[in-house]
Amino acid sequence: CGIVGYVGPKQAQGVVVEGLRRLEYRGYDSAGIALVHAGSIASDKRAGKLANLDKALADNPLPEATTGIGHTRWATHGAPNDRNAHPHLGQRRRVALVHNGIIENFALLRAELEDAGHDLLSETDTEVASHLLEVELAGGVNLTEGMQRVCRRLEGAFTLVAVDGEDPDRVVAARRNSPLVVGVGDGENFLASDVAAFIEHTREALELGQDQVVTITREGVEVTDFHGAPADATPYHVDWDLSAAEKDGYDWFMRKEIFEQPRAVADTLLGRHDENGALQLDEIRISEEELREVDKIIVIASGTSFYAGMVAKYAIEHWTRIACEVELASEFRYRDPILTRSTLVVAISQSGETADTLMAIRHAREQRAKVLAICNTNGSTIPRESDAVIYTHAGPEIGVASTKGFTTQLVACYLLGLYLAQVRGTRYGDEIAQVVDQIQHVPDKIQQVLDRAEEIYGLARRLADSRSVLFLGRHVGYPVALEGALKLKELAYIHAEGFAAGELKHGPIALVEDQLPVFCVVPPRGRDFLHDKMISGIQEVRARGARTIVLAEEGDAVVEPYADVLIRLPRVPTLLQPLLSVIPLQLFALELAAHKGLDVDQPRNLAKSVTVE
Ligand code: G6P
Repeated sequence: CGIVGYVGPKQAQGVVVEGLRRLEYRGYDSAGIALVHAGSIASDKRAGKLANLDKALADNPLPEATTGIGHTRWATHGAPNDRNAHPHLGQRRRVALVHNGIIENFALLRAELEDAGHDLLSETDTEVASHLLEVELAGGVNLTEGMQRVCRRLEGAFTLVAVDGEDPDRVVAARRNSPLVVGVGDGENFLASDVAAFIEHTREALELGQDQVVTITREGVEVTDFHGAPADATPYHVDWDLSAAEKDGYDWFMRKEIFEQPRAVADTLLGRHDENGALQLDEIRISEEELREVDKIIVIASGTSFYAGMVAKYAIEHWTRIACEVELASEFRYRDPILTRSTLVVAISQSGETADTLMAIRHAREQRAKVLAICNTNGSTIPRESDAVIYTHAGPEIGVASTKGFTTQLVACYLLGLYLAQVRGTRYGDEIAQVVDQIQHVPDKIQQVLDRAEEIYGLARRLADSRSVLFLGRHVGYPVALEGALKLKELAYIHAEGFAAGELKHGPIALVEDQLPVFCVVPPRGRDFLHDKMISGIQEVRARGARTIVLAEEGDAVVEPYADVLIRLPRVPTLLQPLLSVIPLQLFALELAAHKGLDVDQPRNLAKSVTVE
């Protein structure tokens, strides 16, 4: 969910709604706002996208106010209707509160409130917090202390932001396991799930720690723990600007982000090696000695980041000769994984806030494993709780479906593999330098693929009525096939499956019927038999009537007879090919969804960062 709070001299409604607009990618099932006006709360909330709330506010304006909070929701408890939308008010409508996360003991608290005569109007877990808070205020404490008291009773993960109708210049928030940052302005202050909500007003931010309560007024910011003891938040400066979070003339953020990949990949490579060609990474608070002792690597991630992790396994094992497993973050913690001091856990997360991934790294650290994060978001929770971090420098990614996030994660994984090989001496220096040199040419090659976007767009429009699409790959082309299928599902709501081409004959081939579109990611020709085996897979589906869309490197003439459509990729070594082969698949899903008139940046039912488990 996206959360905003404001106190200052400006009209709060404008500031809050604009902030919500920049956070809408975090959830868009419903939106709502509450303002403090003349000793009471004025509030409105609507199911559906922010535009519905906008319209309601235009038809029935709220009174002017300079203190307010707002929320865009990704539903957990209760359907996404008006009633379940946030803010939620207390019994006497004195308090308004918004929430991101899940209050696990809400059923118990709800029963207790109902026994005491409270009427709860929604099916959400949130509403219990607004009622409890109001009870505390009625007992005579102020909003800050009331929030501390309520938090001590809540279990689960939450960010809460609240206002008190009788205390006009104060907004109070609390955080446990869910994101929250403070924007520090001049005579005004902000609260938000991420800095995008307020960078228009200030670039000075405070990152809160776990289990903290923060109070903002016009004049200041005060941070405590849940018991009222003063606590520290970490100040930082936001170095990207508003234009980076805007569309720059593109129709969709996602299209802009796909076309930013040459630059994003180049930025992620920048400054990673010293004058002798030796690799240097960001914040590795793990000594070289400890890295030499690593005997197992486990990569954990969710969604698209998980597919980057699958590619990482091939590269890391090849270069370092350390066994590397990849696991979905949501599964990892619950299967009693074997972790020791010499296990290195690599957590990949664009947002740095995905709850499944966060919980998995906590579990890993409890077992004394070392955790290294690959992340795109400075100051987010996952890197902060890790022993080391490699930042991807993709810039803000707003489109819900990840694109430049993915390719820059791949780069970071390659760098990590090469760095480990360097530290452990498993590969010769010149071999590492050679790969580093090959990666440096990738941004230009991505650009060459993008220059032919029109071909892919045409193909997407021709195939827009497909009911099902398959994606096949081998080796590192296999995760690319999975990612291509995920993109199509996420954006175009078309049934799509990715398979390891060799596995086809063991079952999935039964799905193949006349005219079924099948994307085939063909590995470069090399000394192994990968390329030839992939050709056999293509023949198998073609013989059964499939239409093949073949991605193969330039100069590969062998594939020509088997391709109904041929998409050429510039030449790179096999391990690096995902950086190129994923691009046409991104463009295909994007254009197909756009052609169908769907919301490319905010597909139905999804959210960009899922901060609940
Ligand atoms: C959500 C998004 C996906 C993303 C996944 C992991 O499900 O919709 O696009 O890949 O989370 O996100 P992360 O920020 O951890 O990489």
